Amino acid sequence: MTIFKGRPVSLLGSGIYVPEKVLTNYDLEKMVDTSDEWIRTRTGIVERRIAAEDQVTSDLAYLAAVEALKSASMSPEEIDMVIVATNTPDTIFPSVAAKVQGRLEAINAGASDIQSGCTSSVYALSFAAAGIASSIWDKVLVIGAEVLTKLLNWEDRATCVLFGDGAGAMVLGVSPDGKNNVISTSLKSDGTKSDLIILPGGLVECPASVEMIQKKLHTIHMKGSEVFKFVNKVLPLFLEQFCEESDLSLDDVTWWIFHQANYRIIESVLRRLDVPVERAILNIDKYGNTSAASVFLAFHEALVDGKVKKGDKVIFVSFGSGMTYGATLMEI
Ligand code: COA
Repeated sequence: MTIFKGRPVSLLGSGIYVPEKVLTNYDLEKMVDTSDEWIRTRTGIVERRIAAEDQVTSDLAYLAAVEALKSASMSPEEIDMVIVATNTPDTIFPSVAAKVQGRLEAINAGASDIQSGCTSSVYALSFAAAGIASSIWDKVLVIGAEVLTKLLNWEDRATCVLFGDGAGAMVLGVSPDGKNNVISTSLKSDGTKSDLIILPGGLVECPASVEMIQKKLHTIHMKGSEVFKFVNKVLPLFLEQFCEESDLSLDDVTWWIFHQANYRIIESVLRRLDVPVERAILNIDKYGNTSAASVFLAFHEALVDGKVKKGDKVIFVSFGSGMTYGATLMEI
């Protein structure tokens, strides 16, 4: 089933944090054999943010969470659960969520990370809404946070130009006035394609060793053009079905908030759906691919800019390592 049943779930606040340091395509030209023109035309990326040397994912997550709580006029003690979507946790354990919960002094909250590739954002949103709709929790802090740039091979031009760091957060809660903001969700996975985006080294399958580090297996590896083809093949039909199951025509969607992986992917999926690309919220030019943070960043900026307005129907769409993909419909 796609449509949420149970208690209505409201969006109570949102916030973001991005590191100060900007790395432009021109900076990258000095580091690897690439060009601003190649990166811009193949991806839409112009620049990205880079976490400071001493900044880790939980720092970014915490700062975005503080902003979201502020916008919800809520104190941390009111939160029942902290969910962090991330593929770049500070450590495998403890979770980023537990660190954020501790630092916020959200003394009544549980804490857990979700790791489903870049789709972690949509998974986390859905789990939070499901927990609220079913009366398990009243208020949930959902965060997407990544420091991908510390896990890149800066000699591999096929990956290092694509990713950036950032965090975004939302506070969801049981609706104070009966208004339901989170309408429907669909989460999918095709694990037969699990080799397309990987970080293979340093854990159980390939424990830390000198050889592992020499082969740079502790960094992100990606079959870029296969990812491109997979997403273009799977997403249009999936999104058509999702809208149908959500009792929504494609024309009824005010804004499409895609995972900001590549402008060309967003454009070609929308073209296949016969939807003008002007209906997509885009900020990939400023931040690159921030994985599980990207839809939160795009949404919050569009809200603050006044692009996304009350009553708008917004579909969050993501895809990533797994290969996972998913969509969540919100009516703002
Ligand atoms: N600068 C210059 N040239 C580059 C380059 C770079 N940063 N990266 C790759 N190239 C070269 C390749 O070496 C190749 O050269 P060759 O033809 O001489 O072998 C050429 O560009 C084309 O490579 P290809 O991989 O086919 O390019 P592409 O058009 O598929 O674009 C991606 C590459 C990564 C931008 C694209 O495949 C993509 O966006 N895929 C999806 C990735 C993604 O979204 N991942 C995250 C999902 S969460």
